[in-house]
Amino acid sequence: MDAKDPLTEKLDDTSAILALDTQGQFGMVAGLGEQVREAYGAARERVEESPHEVGGVVVAGMGGSAIGADLVRGVYDSSLYCNMETVRNYSLPGWVDSRTVVFAISYSGNTEETLSCLGQALERGSRVICITSGGRMAALAGEQELPLITIPSGLQPRAAIGYLSIPVAACLEAMGLVGELEDDVRETAAALEDLAEAYGMDRPAADNPAKQLALKLHGNIPVIYGAELTAVAARRWKGQINENAKTLAFCNEFPELNHNEIVGWERPADLQARFRVVYLEDRETHTQNLKRMELTADSLPGEVIRHATSGASRLARVLSACYLGDWVSLYMAVLQGVDPSPVERIEELKRRLG
Ligand code: F6R
Repeated sequence: MDAKDPLTEKLDDTSAILALDTQGQFGMVAGLGEQVREAYGAARERVEESPHEVGGVVVAGMGGSAIGADLVRGVYDSSLYCNMETVRNYSLPGWVDSRTVVFAISYSGNTEETLSCLGQALERGSRVICITSGGRMAALAGEQELPLITIPSGLQPRAAIGYLSIPVAACLEAMGLVGELEDDVRETAAALEDLAEAYGMDRPAADNPAKQLALKLHGNIPVIYGAELTAVAARRWKGQINENAKTLAFCNEFPELNHNEIVGWERPADLQARFRVVYLEDRETHTQNLKRMELTADSLPGEVIRHATSGASRLARVLSACYLGDWVSLYMAVLQGVDPSPVERIEELKRRLG
């Protein structure tokens, strides 16, 4: 038998991975399928049918608590009759009023930007729905008797993407803003469970696409490009690589990047070899965007790494694409020898802000 190279050996050494992963993030990621199923069931019990006319939907959240709502918007955008926007900042846009549904989402319940938006939504008489595991947001929701979806505590927010996204979709369903979700959720949960086997740590690198991709990206700067449905997945990959692997990564989307970033690839020439471009492709992409992706690949350094989504529903396709990135980022952490969970720099900054 051929000896494995040392990096591959690292990825296949499950006991060393478990020792490195002090907060059990591998296990949480492996359980995402079940998380999706549970989040939908719990939200359906909690959320009442309320087919009021909705003037618009705003989601206030940051980082791991915001991306789930972006995902929901990306999946159901074309069937929504009103605007849906994610606010990653301290202030709500001027158009938010009493006809607007405002989701305030913070895993910890203590994120200051999100709490600031929540305060403004209350002042404007918006229909507020809080999603959190506790903190100041849960306390405020209790005091003001606001609709509250409580999610389990003890996870890294980014590992709670099912708990943070699916309730938003379930609320939109209850408001009559999107159609029946049950089939999409069932398909997505089953797909994630299958993928947990294919990408999981027990599956050797030789037969594991997530480990193989981590090996390709290790030591380089990943640049993740999506289009339409996969744009949000590209953003998720970037965030996961940043936080889990503590590694710089960038993302962008077609066609916008054809109007600026494509020119930036001309310089600095000496850095080109350090980037690895990943395309996240989806079969429903506009044909011109597909053409743009092909043409652009010719002017990018190195060979583009391609991943195509699979599945019937848009929800299953986009969450599966995100899921590959989750696993890749965990294996990149292993290759760096870093614990995927702690995000010291984020915590330190929050402490210093007071
Ligand atoms: C993700 C992560 C951050 C937080 C963000 C907001 O795992 O650690 O991106 O999600 O700082 O905090 P929360 O989610 O508590 O509102």
